[in-house]
Amino acid sequence: MKSFYITTAIDYANGSPHLGHAYEKVLTDVIARFRRQMGDKVHFLTGTDEHGQKVQASARKRGIPPQQFVDEISAEFRALLPKLTISNDDFIRTTEERHKKVVCELLQRLYDQGDIYKNEYRGFYSTRQEQFLQEKDRHPDGTWPEIFGEVTEITETNYFFKLKQYQPWLVEFLTKNENFVFPKYRQSQVLEFLKEPLNDLCISRPKERLEWGIPLPFDAGYVTYVWFDALVNYYSAVADTGQWPATWHVIGKDILVPPHAVYWPIMLKAAGIELPHGIIAHGWWMTRGAKMSKSTGNALNPLDLVTEFGPDAFRYFLIREMNVGQDSDFTREQFLVRYNSELANNLGNLVNRTLNMTTRFAAGTVPAAEADQDLERDLKALWQRTRDEFIPLCEGFQFHTALERAMQFLTETNAYIEKRAPWKLGKSAEPADQALLRTSLATMAEALRLAVAIIRHVTPTTTEKINAVLGYTPGPVWRNELDWDGRLAGKTVAPALVLFPRPAPPEKAPAAAAKSV
Ligand code: ME8
Ligand code: MG
Repeated sequence: MKSFYITTAIDYANGSPHLGHAYEKVLTDVIARFRRQMGDKVHFLTGTDEHGQKVQASARKRGIPPQQFVDEISAEFRALLPKLTISNDDFIRTTEERHKKVVCELLQRLYDQGDIYKNEYRGFYSTRQEQFLQEKDRHPDGTWPEIFGEVTEITETNYFFKLKQYQPWLVEFLTKNENFVFPKYRQSQVLEFLKEPLNDLCISRPKERLEWGIPLPFDAGYVTYVWFDALVNYYSAVADTGQWPATWHVIGKDILVPPHAVYWPIMLKAAGIELPHGIIAHGWWMTRGAKMSKSTGNALNPLDLVTEFGPDAFRYFLIREMNVGQDSDFTREQFLVRYNSELANNLGNLVNRTLNMTTRFAAGTVPAAEADQDLERDLKALWQRTRDEFIPLCEGFQFHTALERAMQFLTETNAYIEKRAPWKLGKSAEPADQALLRTSLATMAEALRLAVAIIRHVTPTTTEKINAVLGYTPGPVWRNELDWDGRLAGKTVAPALVLFPRPAPPEKAPAAAAKSV
């Protein structure tokens, strides 16, 4: 069995989860479930990033100790996971002993080998980004970009990690490993960034300025600051388990350069630890052209949508709509269009027709197919193509296109039913018509079974529900589920299943929505 270790970013425990956080979990979960289905031994880690100035400030504002504050927020992030049917194997908090211990070991090792030194620093600092800024970060008119929030000038003595001396190594590494960052065009951005000389990385804060952090093992007057703490979670969570290295780190594009694509590889290289296989950098969910975020207050609460439409409709929309790497606008209208046309009309209709007609014309038992005719042969051929394209698309993280193909197959299955018109065949006593009726019932049931098998990593709950009403228990090997072999013959189906009910009140006329399939 191939080991596959996948992580999400760990979320800042300084505000509630929003749609961007939910998307990252869902995307990572879809990849994790897909790899499990492909037979890999998957380990899936997520968690919360709990130290730093913002947390300290937010806790002060509420008048509670930071530990109590992060306990609450972390619990909120953790509670979201089952609601989204996230199949993570572990959840790490940076305030846990197992994490702090490894951070200290790593810092001590780098300090002992001379990769960390003490120096006075004078410069501009962004609290929002928890980052020292450089002259090149400024606008030509001397102001600082909006994303840095309030920028202040400070002077202090701190510890620095010798980032710069590893720059030539990193450039060579990225040149040799051209698929280290997905999508590939983001790897070019990393190399572009590395054309400028790197500064050594400030890794500490004096205790007087920041108490809420992990004390440096070699100087108790300081705590380690954001990235040297946060990035290590991927390693500390599995340090003694033999699961390292990670296969993929899934993150948003805002934390690719420099943290994940520059600091992290160099930290690992310096410590003599194996590098991860790669980084997947997804885009942003936007509202009206602006990134959804805690700080701008335009964030959508994912739980509202999950409560209203169920986890699978939510997961389906996020994965169907977003091309991994690019940005997408989130609107309720677009959500409802896909919900109505693709889930309720297309998939929902096939479920209703299959159950209803099998009940009506075959007393609830799926018949065996008899001699295929052109319509059946065409649909089977489409299934072969769909399946053969679907898996490579998922392997390449093109889930949005994969789902589009699955929808096309459902659309064609519904079209097949229209053409075959079992309701007409049911009125005929001709043996040939009766045989065709049985074949059509077998065909629609098989097409439904296959369609929900192939999208199972996106819609696990729906697939399970549909299997249950088809009287079907899938076998242990997912790929074997994808063969068209009429294995439902003789199964007893339930008379009905309510999936994807219409939202009330409908905001868009369903007729208009249905056109966009
Ligand atoms: O960056 N759309 O935490 P975070 C898509 N603690 N993804 C989004 C998003 C949006 N609108 N907003 C945020 C941190 N994200 C650090 C990470 S990792 C060692 C430390 C993504 O809570 C964001 O890109 O600000 C990141 O990958 C994740 O949510 C957590 O963001
Ligand atoms: Mg952020």
